[in-house]
Amino acid sequence: MIQSAKDQSSIKTDLAFQRCINPDCGASYDTGQLHTSCPKCGYLLDVAYDWDRLEVPKNLREFEARWSERTNPVRFSGVWRFHELLPFVPQSEIVTVGEGQTLLQQTDAVGKFVGMDAGQLHLQYEGMNPSGSFKDNGMCAAITHANMLGAKRAACASTGNTSASLALYCSATRLMKAIIFIGSGKISYGKLSQALDYGALTVQIAGDFDDAMIRVRQVAQELGIYLVNSVNPFRLEGQKTIMFRVLEALRWEVPDWIVVPGGNLGNSSAFGKAFMELKELGLIDRVPRLAIINAAGADTLYELHERRGVRWNGGHVNLDPIREYMDYMDQNGIKADTLASAIEINRPVNLKKCLRALEFCDGVVRQVSDQEILDAKAMVGSGGFGCEPASAASVAGAKILRREGVIAPSDRVVCVLTGHELKDPTATVAYHTTDQDLFNETLGSRGVSKASFANKAIAVPNELDDIIKAIQLYA
Ligand code: F0G
Repeated sequence: MIQSAKDQSSIKTDLAFQRCINPDCGASYDTGQLHTSCPKCGYLLDVAYDWDRLEVPKNLREFEARWSERTNPVRFSGVWRFHELLPFVPQSEIVTVGEGQTLLQQTDAVGKFVGMDAGQLHLQYEGMNPSGSFKDNGMCAAITHANMLGAKRAACASTGNTSASLALYCSATRLMKAIIFIGSGKISYGKLSQALDYGALTVQIAGDFDDAMIRVRQVAQELGIYLVNSVNPFRLEGQKTIMFRVLEALRWEVPDWIVVPGGNLGNSSAFGKAFMELKELGLIDRVPRLAIINAAGADTLYELHERRGVRWNGGHVNLDPIREYMDYMDQNGIKADTLASAIEINRPVNLKKCLRALEFCDGVVRQVSDQEILDAKAMVGSGGFGCEPASAASVAGAKILRREGVIAPSDRVVCVLTGHELKDPTATVAYHTTDQDLFNETLGSRGVSKASFANKAIAVPNELDDIIKAIQLYA
């Protein structure tokens, strides 16, 4: 469903603008151009709104009525259904492919693994998006803005999901050409196949994601290409709606915890902004705590926030420990390294925004090993809808926080499952395999020693009696 909804405009766009998040700068810019950092001070920008002059529903329940208008593509979209909470575009210019039809699943099987009381663990399954990950929530907003500006080319660096999403929006809407930058050998086949199949120009850099990110920013600047990475504040507007849908599924009750994997930190930043705005607008009366989970092999946020005490500090971030750590990584050739390739990132571009979200949501950061990620993933597979490795970091992180007593068994916890199971089947097959060589080659060599929750296939001769006997033995 790719349609615009012409002539339904109710939102005036001069009430939205871009604003620097640095309180000592606070420079603002209109929405008629894209800034991926503040031209004055270099900090990140937000999309900000003149809420007093905008019409926002008085109660979040008003959004529910939108479900009755499902033939309208703007109402069908799980992102644009909340248009009044991301009103940077008139309705007539919205681009949608039907993103955001996602589910909050309550699961006691996974809850037990995490250590929760019955009924308290929920999984927000973003793998149901058109390109199979949460990225579509933000991509529809970025492509909408790019199209408003008349962009004919859009680019991103990606560990795979952003590129799949961009490629899908470009192929499905025909509005612009997708150019994607990926690191060599760093992207799962599921995601790479999407970008290639959807016809994106795919540029493979001899380096990792952090290298590709630096290059794409340079190239986008040089060639005037619209950049859709999460330094794009319009993209993050779309990602706020993941939290709106979580609240909606909980009958507008705010949970105690939101647990999310952290890579480039766009999602966690967007969640923080969502709650800041809902609170400011008086639409919620309390804010959930935020837990951001790094993979141990890509744990810059954990290192800075938990070990070096770096805080948002009302916008006055102490930059010295950040610089020191980045220098340390450079000098020692430290590169991100995790089987959860989606979050294999050591230089998260949204670090400061994410620190703001952590401060506002009284957040914590944890790191989890690849072993913990794969075990959690197997539990999600057997007790939920399944997910790709990076997504399971949220469940593995919730388990650690539960063990530490930071999360109580009676808390209501939402773990965000960011990507579809089929995005990255290599680790899944190796985890469940009976072939020890395959296990060793794929997982053992990366420090995973056991597959405690493996569901191994049984080998049987091609004889009816043997097959029947085997089934009776196991099921
Ligand atoms: N989970 C999945 C499945 C992802 O693809 C990503 C990021 C994250 C979590 C982390 O989200 O960056 O907002 O902190 N993937 C990006 C990409 C980097 O290029 O697809 P984040």
